Amino acid sequence: MKKYLVVGNPIEHSLSPKLHNYWFKNNGIDAIYEKKKINEDELESLIRDIKEKKIHGINVTVPFKKAIIPYVDELSFESEKTQSVNTVYLDNNKTIGHNTDIYGFELGIKNLKIDLSKKKILILGAGGVVPSIIFALNKMKVSEILISNRTQDKAENLKDLFKDLKIVNWGVIPEFDIIINATSLGLKKDDEINLDFSRVGSNKFFYDVIYNPGETKFLKIGKKLGNKTENGKLMFISQALEAFNIWHGIKPQINNEVIELLD
Ligand code: ATR
Repeated sequence: MKKYLVVGNPIEHSLSPKLHNYWFKNNGIDAIYEKKKINEDELESLIRDIKEKKIHGINVTVPFKKAIIPYVDELSFESEKTQSVNTVYLDNNKTIGHNTDIYGFELGIKNLKIDLSKKKILILGAGGVVPSIIFALNKMKVSEILISNRTQDKAENLKDLFKDLKIVNWGVIPEFDIIINATSLGLKKDDEINLDFSRVGSNKFFYDVIYNPGETKFLKIGKKLGNKTENGKLMFISQALEAFNIWHGIKPQINNEVIELLD
């Protein structure tokens, strides 16, 4: 039986095992997918386990998406450009670090049938998933990406990867077409996002990377002001789907049953 893992810290909340094990069952694949909380010093031996075929693939989540890079043999183009790896697989005895978060974000947005070209985007947060979102937004030919993070240095650091980023002070909400919450604020039900959206207007789009809870306070505020809103559920499912495709050569359907699995 093949074995797959999602590793991170914390990891309890991860719904990746639910998705992958469901797809194993549906596709008659003899494999198991588990979650494992790890420390950074375990990354090297994990990659060795993949090389020795004791483990057949891993997903990497917060806070190791960058830290895993020195241990893999090669990076895909997308991982190189974002300095972020969320999927590792073995190809010709080489461990490859790949990034399916980009695909996940793109597919999540495509499904909403909104055209992002020439749109002005404001991203809140500068954590692990943000380079992937920026890469995907650039592919979709947005006109401008503004970024605001509580710790401004972390936003500034992203300019090493993406020269055209514009940094906005935390607390300032400039004009935008689409606002993306990529902070972890909202993961806990009582989390407040202490930003003043009252002058935003009603013809904007509020997107939250968080999907559990399904409607964060950020989305509630956006909706109350009359804006369109969407959570990150489809992005999450889509990044898992692309990892599944890389490992097994199968792209499962996203149907209601899959969507309800995550409720
Ligand atoms: P990591 O930073 O380890 O990659 P993450 O969950 O991907 O973790 O990112 C957390 C994001 O949420 C960061 O942008 C963080 O801001 P800081 O860089 O200032 O830490 C943001 N965040 C978390 N708690 C926050 C809070 N109370 N107010 C504002 N931003 C917060």
